[in-house]
Amino acid sequence: MTLLDRVIARTLPAVPKTVVRRVANRYIAGETTDEALRVVADLNARGFRATLDILGEHISRWDQANRAIENYLNLLEEIARRKVDSTISIKLTQLGLKLDPQACLEMTRRLIRRAAELNNFVRVDMEDSSCTTATLRVYRELRREFSNVGVVVQAYLRRTLDDVCALEDLRPNYRLCKGVYVEPREIAYPDMRVINRNYALLLEKMLRNGSYVGIATHDEFMVWEAYRIIRELKLPATAYEFQMLLGVEETLRDIILAAGHAVRIYIPFGRDWYAYSVRRLRENPRLAGYVFKAMFK
Ligand code: FDA
Repeated sequence: MTLLDRVIARTLPAVPKTVVRRVANRYIAGETTDEALRVVADLNARGFRATLDILGEHISRWDQANRAIENYLNLLEEIARRKVDSTISIKLTQLGLKLDPQACLEMTRRLIRRAAELNNFVRVDMEDSSCTTATLRVYRELRREFSNVGVVVQAYLRRTLDDVCALEDLRPNYRLCKGVYVEPREIAYPDMRVINRNYALLLEKMLRNGSYVGIATHDEFMVWEAYRIIRELKLPATAYEFQMLLGVEETLRDIILAAGHAVRIYIPFGRDWYAYSVRRLRENPRLAGYVFKAMFK
């Protein structure tokens, strides 16, 4: 994290909402389901798959969780009705994980059941380290009943290799990412070289175990590592996909797609876009740096 990144993150609250909006426009597909599905249709037409995330997390009241579930159920219906190629990605703290994990499990179960009926798939995003154990517990519980649910693990966490070993019996459908939340050194590797090595180690372990993996990265070095592992294991293109965030490293995503690999774009949208943008950028100044640099590219 450079000094420039830190300065950019600190000055962010002083930036007018309209300016944040202009920057966020690139990374967030609007406020409504209709806007988001138009972005999905456009990406589908260019050969990309999609996954949709309705912004919102760490709710404090059950009516907020109920509203989120209703919005997601409506989204699943609309995806089916418009016949677009998109799954959904959810955050368990938006569905009450911090209020009552058991009630959160029941809510999530409802969503996954409907997704199964509509032939769709639900990815459970991974949040900060205070949620890891509870999220993996909910995931394991859901897998007793459903196969159309996947989970995310973060290569920067010291615990992830153990978590992946413990989940081997389930052969999870994974998304592997580096991890975006700022964590203390006791919990997460601070050194990017270690994170990158751990990413490659985890990826190889997952693929060897027969897991389908969403390789979520914009880092050309990690893409190269993934190609190396895929080639060494002689995997068909159906065994994995690459995943990237909307508006990020678009040239690289085109290159990967043109090379014959599936690429899924993660598309956040919703009324909570401003709070989400500011929170993410303030939490992680490295992101503010990326955004700032991208603006001037
Ligand atoms: P790295 O951080 O090294 O970035 C490589 C390059 O990519 C940078 O130099 C920069 O150019 C560009 N870049 C990366 N992120 C950018 C951004 N946000 N804006 C602009 N440019 C950017 N994390 C998590 O903790 N839980 C989760 O559930 C998910 N889910 C998820 C889904 C998908 C599809 C993706 C792609 C990522 C996530 N993440 C996530 C975020 C992930 O953990 C990670 O923080 C970012 O993807 C950045 O890591 P990279 O692998 O891209 O490498």
